[in-house]
Amino acid sequence: MKAKTPNASKTVMTDLVLPSETNPLNNLFGGELLARMDRAASIAARRHSRRIVVTASVNHVAFNRSVPLGSVVTVEAKVSRAFKTSMEVYIDVWIDDRESGIKTKANEAIYTFVAVDETGRPVSVPEIVPETDLEKERFDAALRRKQLSLVLAGKLKPNDATELKALFE
Ligand SMILES: CC(C)(COP(=O)(O)OP(=O)(O)OC[C@H]1O[C@@H](n2cnc3c(N)ncnc32)[C@H](O)[C@@H]1OP(=O)(O)O)[C@@H](O)C(=O)NCCC(=O)NCCS
Repeated sequence: MKAKTPNASKTVMTDLVLPSETNPLNNLFGGELLARMDRAASIAARRHSRRIVVTASVNHVAFNRSVPLGSVVTVEAKVSRAFKTSMEVYIDVWIDDRESGIKTKANEAIYTFVAVDETGRPVSVPEIVPETDLEKERFDAALRRKQLSLVLAGKLKPNDATELKALFE
């Protein structure tokens, strides 16, 4: 399988925040944003693998800024690292300032997707070659995040999490 770049999986979804998607403070519901991020990330994982993909875990979400009713929200997802059958997808969320048109980073998240065949069995995905400094930074940290996610899910013994242990040495 030919290696790909993160940019080849880049997926950008822009949409408004409507009244039915807000909480009593008139800000976007966290769950609605999670769903938008999941959709964009699954398309990115599918573009990278050209396979059926399923969400294996939500590794990290930071709701740093609330997103007011009427905002124009852009969700940008890219595969940051591909392992054997799983892919880490990094999602950045931006809000447009109505008057200046400038985009401000509001939130970010990291999801893990697994490529599967028609019976739901995991299958291999192409490698990824990061290009920019940010892509390289995210690629390098992804193995640590994968090990942390597996430890928290009870699928990896803390003693076997070599990347995590190296952090404290
Ligand atoms: C995700 C799923 C395919 C993994 O199946 P599994 O039997 O655990 O398969 P494996 O142990 O071979 O793991 C497959 C890959 O997923 C990774 N993985 C599994 N759980 C993970 C977790 N919690 N965090 C990070 N990676 C995880 C494994 O490390 C492995 O990666 P690799 O092949 O790149 O090294 C399976 O659990 C599943 O189908 N879950 C339901 C998915 C779904 O329906 N999502 C939507 C929820 S509504």
